[in-house]
Amino acid sequence: MSTPYSENAVWRSAFPFLDAQGKDGRPVAFLDSAASAQKPRAVLDRMDSFARHEYANVHRGVYDLSEHATVAYEAARERAAAFLRAGSDRVTIFTRGTTESVNLVAYAWGEAHVQAGDTLLLTEMEHHSNMLPWRALAERKGARVEYVPVTANGAALDLAAAEAMLARKPKLFAFAHASNVLGFLTPAARLCAAARKHGVTTFLDAAQSVGHLPVDIEAIGCDFLACSAHKACGPTGVGLLVGRLSLMENLPPWQQGGSMVEKVRFDAVTYRPPPARFEAGTPPIIEAVGLGAAFNFLSDLGLEAVEAHSLALAQRAADGLRKIPGVRVVGPEQRGTGVVSFVAEAVHAHDMAYFTNGKGVALRAGHHCAQPLMHRLGVPATTRASFYLYNDEEDVLRLLDAVAGAVSFFKA
Ligand SMILES: Cc1ncc(COP(=O)(O)O)c(C=O)c1O
Repeated sequence: MSTPYSENAVWRSAFPFLDAQGKDGRPVAFLDSAASAQKPRAVLDRMDSFARHEYANVHRGVYDLSEHATVAYEAARERAAAFLRAGSDRVTIFTRGTTESVNLVAYAWGEAHVQAGDTLLLTEMEHHSNMLPWRALAERKGARVEYVPVTANGAALDLAAAEAMLARKPKLFAFAHASNVLGFLTPAARLCAAARKHGVTTFLDAAQSVGHLPVDIEAIGCDFLACSAHKACGPTGVGLLVGRLSLMENLPPWQQGGSMVEKVRFDAVTYRPPPARFEAGTPPIIEAVGLGAAFNFLSDLGLEAVEAHSLALAQRAADGLRKIPGVRVVGPEQRGTGVVSFVAEAVHAHDMAYFTNGKGVALRAGHHCAQPLMHRLGVPATTRASFYLYNDEEDVLRLLDAVAGAVSFFKA
């Protein structure tokens, strides 16, 4: 399914950043949504109105405004749980984002469950955010870290290796639902089922999938899932950790402070149950309301359509890039997500992004917070184009033109 252009034009009209005239009188071809997505008017307006007229701290005041703010904050939590199909046996916790969600579990769950000699299983393609907190946990505990390999040119995760490594019963398997570099989805439900068979706890880094495709936690069956609102049309500063209640209800808190305690005496403290136990201090209230608005906005458009649209543009971009002499696309032939990373023989990734910026095409260049993966692919860096609902076919053509221009400029 590809999106009819008329629908895409309506989607584009929801995003004020496209009102600005950029280089050559056209709006920017924004191809860096994998780093952070642009915000639709519906999200900006909801946050603005909430901050102006409905704002107060939550879970504290008995006055109307505070009670209203608390209702809005809790409604955003319910919206998030429904959007991700979390079900009543899971708890949805507001965090600052994916990075904080990983750290939360690496401390709260990791301290309670991981012991010397245990193995933590990751993959070679993980973002540093879903790698370094587990490595630090392993160091604290004297555990080992193993990595499921990716196949040649980063075309896929080696599933046979993953299943063999899971059969050795690591304590945890933490992996990305969608790579932020390689442009494929991992078969999360299959991997979680394999992990469950061996009693392995699973942590799904869904930073690149939530808001880009339908994500159904019940169907996937992961124990923990993390995501960030800012990659899904929502604001920065807020994200989610969704965890099985049975795993979270007996965990100690990872941060101490206001709102997460039931009783404090000079010599004793008892904690509230999750989610409050894991939300110490004043939470990102306006941002949580913005997250709810972003999920409403995306649900109204339909995640299937958003996914199909990004995928169609990414496939066109990848096919076009492959035809440019000296350009190699990493990852699979057939795109699985809207991400396309590539290397050009004669052009350093940073020069490429600098050159395309001159043509009004915003790309990301570098290691994408996945340095071990770059090492595995044998490249210092890649240039990445990532597509989302507000991109169109013209953005693809501008990308291909700009990259071809850079290749001939730097060859000369
Ligand atoms: C796969 C993946 N995991 C984790 C993160 C970290 O997300 P955040 O910076 O929002 O915490 C990112 C961000 O790029 C990502 O792409």
